[in-house]
Amino acid sequence: MNILVTGGAGYIGSHTCVALLEAGYSVIVADNLCNGKEETLNKVKQLTNKDLTFYEIDVTDDIAVNTIFSKHEIDGVIHFAGLKAVGESVERPLTYYNNNVVSTMVLAKACLTYGVNRFVFSSSATVYGDNKVPFIETMDLLPTTNPYGETKAMSERILTDIVKANPAFSVSLLRYFNPVGAHESGLIGEAPNGIPNNLMPYVTQVAKGKLEKLSVFGNDYPTVDGTGVRDYIHVMDLAEGHVVALDHLTEGVHVYNLGTGQGTSVLELVNAFEEANGIKVPYEIVERRPGDIASFYADASKAKRELGWTAKRDVIAMCRDAWRFEKNYME
Ligand code: NAD
Ligand code: UFG
Repeated sequence: MNILVTGGAGYIGSHTCVALLEAGYSVIVADNLCNGKEETLNKVKQLTNKDLTFYEIDVTDDIAVNTIFSKHEIDGVIHFAGLKAVGESVERPLTYYNNNVVSTMVLAKACLTYGVNRFVFSSSATVYGDNKVPFIETMDLLPTTNPYGETKAMSERILTDIVKANPAFSVSLLRYFNPVGAHESGLIGEAPNGIPNNLMPYVTQVAKGKLEKLSVFGNDYPTVDGTGVRDYIHVMDLAEGHVVALDHLTEGVHVYNLGTGQGTSVLELVNAFEEANGIKVPYEIVERRPGDIASFYADASKAKRELGWTAKRDVIAMCRDAWRFEKNYME
């Protein structure tokens, strides 16, 4: 089966390409390389000893997208391509709505035109807003505080409406919690541009000596040690979740949380990193980061019940694999 993976040269997409190729799928990647590298795809081939097809295109470009659909018998689409920097989305809302929402519409339209009925979408736990934890799929979505989150909620709604009008179309909306870590080979992983916004890449860059110390954003939250709690999920568990979601896709819209169901605080993650790798991570406590919520984690029971999928790798494995990648990574 041929799967079109948009954003396949990026962080989660590249790990999912590995999982797809290992599961026997053929992979066609469409990526404009705005935040991905072609070199990453070479590493995917090296890791799996399998080939894949790559198109350097923008997936908001319907002519370019249609060219791919007309050249290949596509059986399903996994749509990762998107911009994901929350702060940037506040400064450049039009860029975010255009990139993240128009791409979903262009791809869904091509699927309908070419009779492709399987669509897996990268959503985010951010669509739950400030709901009560644990977040469960049946909750009403609350408005998010930034355009990035809105692009995810809108794409979910658009895909849901398309299914209502086209009952043969099958959509899986995967709401990721906090993806971290890297492939255990250390060959592919997360390499953000500039100073990282997210906790784990910040920690690995402090460990490497690229950054002096971690700023822990607040220690007065109502959590186990006062620091923010999140549901970190190993990127390979997430990647495997996509393969399972694709394998199980039936008509209609299916929403799944992909998380572990376990909350980990910032200081617990720092301690786990030090324990896993035997390296100190200097930190200081600073003010809360505006817009952060104290704690969120998944109710991950639906994916287990319906897909038979659970995350297998623990926080120590996440820290070990993230560090293995960072240690070897040359910019
Ligand atoms: P990433 O930036 O590493 O990968 C995204 C890839 O998409 C990049 O290779 C980029 O070049 C490509 N891309 C972006 N816009 C494109 C376009 N218009 N046309 C073609 N290619 C385009 O990000 P990631 O962390 O791998 O995230 C993948 C998806 O998962 C995104 O949709 C993101 O919003 C979503 N997500 C990520 C997280 C996270 O914390 N990493 C959490 C929840 C959801
Ligand atoms: N944190 C620090 N210092 C840092 C970075 C983060 O203390 O330098 C703390 C945050 O305050 C938070 C926790 O670490 O308590 C996790 O922060 P991240 O920035 O790594 O992740 P978020 O949960 O804020 O958000 C991420 C993505 C969102 C996505 C969400 C759920 O950035 O786009 O996960 O998937 F919606």
